[in-house]
Amino acid sequence: MLNDVRYFGVIVALLVAIILFIHANDDSAINVISTDPYKLIYPAYFGNRITIPEDNPTTRQGVYLGRMLFYETKLSSTNKISCATCHQQKFAFSDNHPFSTGVGKNSTSRNSMSLANLLWVRSFFWDGRTKSLEEQVTVPLTHPDEMGESLENVAHKLQRMKEYPPLFKATFGTKKITGDRIVKALSQFERTLISSNAPYDKYLRGDYRPTKEELHGLELFMTNPVPRDGIRGGNCGFCHGTPKLLMELFHNNGLDTVPKDIGREKLTGLPADRGRFRVATLRNIAVTSPYMHDGRFNTLEEVLDHYNEHIQQSPSLSQFLQNKSNEPGGKRLRLTTKEKEDIILFLKMLTDSTFLTTPAFADPHITASNDHLKTINDHHE
Ligand code: HEC
Ligand code: HEC
Repeated sequence: MLNDVRYFGVIVALLVAIILFIHANDDSAINVISTDPYKLIYPAYFGNRITIPEDNPTTRQGVYLGRMLFYETKLSSTNKISCATCHQQKFAFSDNHPFSTGVGKNSTSRNSMSLANLLWVRSFFWDGRTKSLEEQVTVPLTHPDEMGESLENVAHKLQRMKEYPPLFKATFGTKKITGDRIVKALSQFERTLISSNAPYDKYLRGDYRPTKEELHGLELFMTNPVPRDGIRGGNCGFCHGTPKLLMELFHNNGLDTVPKDIGREKLTGLPADRGRFRVATLRNIAVTSPYMHDGRFNTLEEVLDHYNEHIQQSPSLSQFLQNKSNEPGGKRLRLTTKEKEDIILFLKMLTDSTFLTTPAFADPHITASNDHLKTINDHHE
């Protein structure tokens, strides 16, 4: 009898505890998330070979949260560095240093990359070592030369701030902040960074008439030289492609005979991959100096001089850069000064001022207001 009473008492206490627990944590109850899909708008000529993982659909709520996080210095161990420190909108989400400085004494070992049109990228970083944005994000977060912080710590810090728990609830259904959710929201924001409104795009849409020089530059950019037929070319399109100006290829573009940074060889162990790096997007290239994985060139003129006169031979030099010349039997490209200038004028047609200035990608902490969700898709509508 006594035992029964005790037993009953324990059950009642348990039930009370469970009820209290559910009330205290209405978060842990199952919630129906009502999120709105974010419309990713891009021209048909970009193609549909995009990557959005099934378990991380792009929503307006998630994109806004990701944007808050992208500009959040609490993501770093010193609370001073955000993603935007090294990826600034006005520089097409790169920075203007050869190497960047994060939380540590050392700077990064490579040049910060522009974050445009990542929706189409499948191998991230200069050497293509990560396969998804979700996988990529944890690298800068935890790297001692970048943000030097663990995801658990970030989650812990954000959980205690007043603005974040409601944003996580709006996106994921509960206020609980986890590393996985941080990664997902950041990736959602990054997928929205689409650059498709440069004069070159307007030209492709029939809304812009290039100058004679720009058109000449475009033609040279896309053309492989065949001197015996009198065809002059800059031979760039082969690797840099068109019209996204982004190709999922890795090449050794002749920067060094013996490269200090072996690039893709570090991943594959193959000598043929020595000094091979990802063919970088040339979108907004006029604002992303310095250039190359190590930021060695300050100007586009220096880049053109490199391709024209200074390609360094090595066993892994791309075949697309061997013996390309505008002179019969020539070893160097031998474009004229005027031709190089025209190619640069074409490259400047890739500057998308909408991308560089749209408030939709800017720091939301500066303009944070209650009606934030309303403004998210504005630039698209
Ligand atoms: C201290 C500077 C620094 C910080 C902070 C930083 N990055 Fe980067 N980021 C870089 C550098 C440098 C690279 C190129 C590294 C490489 O290839 O090895 C890069 C590359 C990337 C890429 C690859 C782009 C591509 O086309 O492959 C993405 C995406 C990216 N960063 C996103 C982020 C996000 C998101 C954050 C914040 C969580 C962040 N970065 C924080 C410096 C930084
Ligand atoms: C064999 C393939 C190939 C050809 C041909 C080629 N490039 Fe490149 N380009 C690359 C690769 C690979 C990189 C990145 C190399 C690195 O950083 O080490 C690059 C980088 C660049 C960059 C710097 C990008 C950045 O974000 O820093 C510019 C600008 C550029 N190329 C312009 C041109 C122009 C103009 C031509 C034609 C004259 C051309 N390229 C021809 C493969 C090529």
